[in-house]
Amino acid sequence: MLDRVAPDTPLFGPDAPMARLETRLSELLGKPRALFFPSGTMAQQVALRIHAERIGRGTFTAHLTNHLDKWEQRGYAAVHGLRYHPAGAAERLLTLDDLQQVTEPVSTLLIELPQREIGGFLPSWEDLNAQVRWARERGAAVHLDGARLWEAQPYYDRPHAEIAALFDTVYVSLYKGLEGVRGAVLAGDEDTIGHAEVWRQRLGGAIPDAWPLAVAALIGLDDVLPRMPAFRDHAVAIAEALTVGGISVVPATPQTPLFHILLPVDAAAATRARDELIAERGVQVFSRAQPESVPGRCRFEITVGENAMEFEPHEVVELIDELVRRALP
Ligand SMILES: Cc1ncc(COP(=O)(O)O)c(C=O)c1O
Repeated sequence: MLDRVAPDTPLFGPDAPMARLETRLSELLGKPRALFFPSGTMAQQVALRIHAERIGRGTFTAHLTNHLDKWEQRGYAAVHGLRYHPAGAAERLLTLDDLQQVTEPVSTLLIELPQREIGGFLPSWEDLNAQVRWARERGAAVHLDGARLWEAQPYYDRPHAEIAALFDTVYVSLYKGLEGVRGAVLAGDEDTIGHAEVWRQRLGGAIPDAWPLAVAALIGLDDVLPRMPAFRDHAVAIAEALTVGGISVVPATPQTPLFHILLPVDAAAATRARDELIAERGVQVFSRAQPESVPGRCRFEITVGENAMEFEPHEVVELIDELVRRALP
């Protein structure tokens, strides 16, 4: 390619946004190396594959609602030939007891912090350590699905690196809580991440011009990451205000900026009411309502970021009250 380039705008090399992002995240997470991936989906499947090959066991275990099994068309099996041994129960946190029932040898224990599908619950620091010990005593690796590690950290009130130190590999998202564009980072030791880089190329994830994603993530680390405690406090205030007829929140006191709201109406009616509110008031209350096992009830997820900070708790109550009234038969 013959082209003119401005020498003072390095988009590649050690001062480029991507290199700066990877260095910054390896420092923040206390891992020797951090590597960009276009998606968490790709990053986590690669991490599990590498642990499986190194340890020589084709099975990993994780909570029943983990993202890889539920939302990724089982790419771990279809692409990487791995097996999944489910653990725990769909409506509550993973426990040490659940893991003790996993008698098949596993290469990896995958832990998600917080557990999104159940409302963003986090295990206590002691429980988390006990689960990690369970894996280590069996010679298994421990991987963190840290899609929302940024949101989880204020609950533990420990540096990110101290949380990450429990795990061999850590995936973090560049877009969800950081309000970036897309992308993920996988962090770990040099050998593991060097190996991951090979798989990233094989899977088509070595995108040379992904720098705009890095720029957005660097801005998120500067501007949004320090706001996580404020987002969590606002989530708690909204949840406290939401104790009105038939509506409940899970957890009752959110541990992160993410929590669930349960409504006494079915998911299709709630979705119709949501669309009416978007059309009439220009406010989107949720993106997806999930049916509950009890008919005539549904739940949806709220994540408090900068967007939600401008809604006072009483305004949220009014909106949800109105949504329920519209959705009732
Ligand atoms: C808990 C969890 N893990 C992994 C992922 C995958 O991330 P990505 O969308 O970057 O593939 C998601 C995405 O929503 C997620 O919520």
